[in-house]
Amino acid sequence: MKGVKELSFPVIGDFRGNLIALEGNKDIPFDVKRVYYIFDNKQDVVRGKHAHYNLKQVIFCPSGQCDFMLDNGEEKKTITLSSPDKAIYIEGNVWREFTNFSKGCSVVVLASEHYDESDYIRNYDDFIKAVK
Ligand code: TYD
Repeated sequence: MKGVKELSFPVIGDFRGNLIALEGNKDIPFDVKRVYYIFDNKQDVVRGKHAHYNLKQVIFCPSGQCDFMLDNGEEKKTITLSSPDKAIYIEGNVWREFTNFSKGCSVVVLASEHYDESDYIRNYDDFIKAVK
């Protein structure tokens, strides 16, 4: 899907359990400037509901699961995030919505830029105008 790639992280496992190490410009295809995570989300809420003009992000769910809807203006796709070693890389202008949060779900986002509200498109009609 244009603007979206699925990533698979190497898992370092031994008899104690598993570990994943993520390095900027290596496992993550950009220099990570910001990390945020969402957790304790109510099951019936929708989070996200925005796109970005320039931001690159890698998004994954290290515990629990949720549905992640992606829309690049041409195509829509819903992916269930449920694995600590599977991530979504968004590098284009893509509308996204998180739904169906399980108990104990947390979503980690690695971002290429510091927080900048002017990079957000929070209105769906404005998003469609921007991608067309
Ligand atoms: P919001 O964009 O609504 O979160 P989501 O996309 O997960 O639904 O952000 C909630 C609040 O947090 C909003 O007031 C902006 C603030 N915020 C920051 O201060 N820094 C950040 O890096 C992010 C992502 C949000």
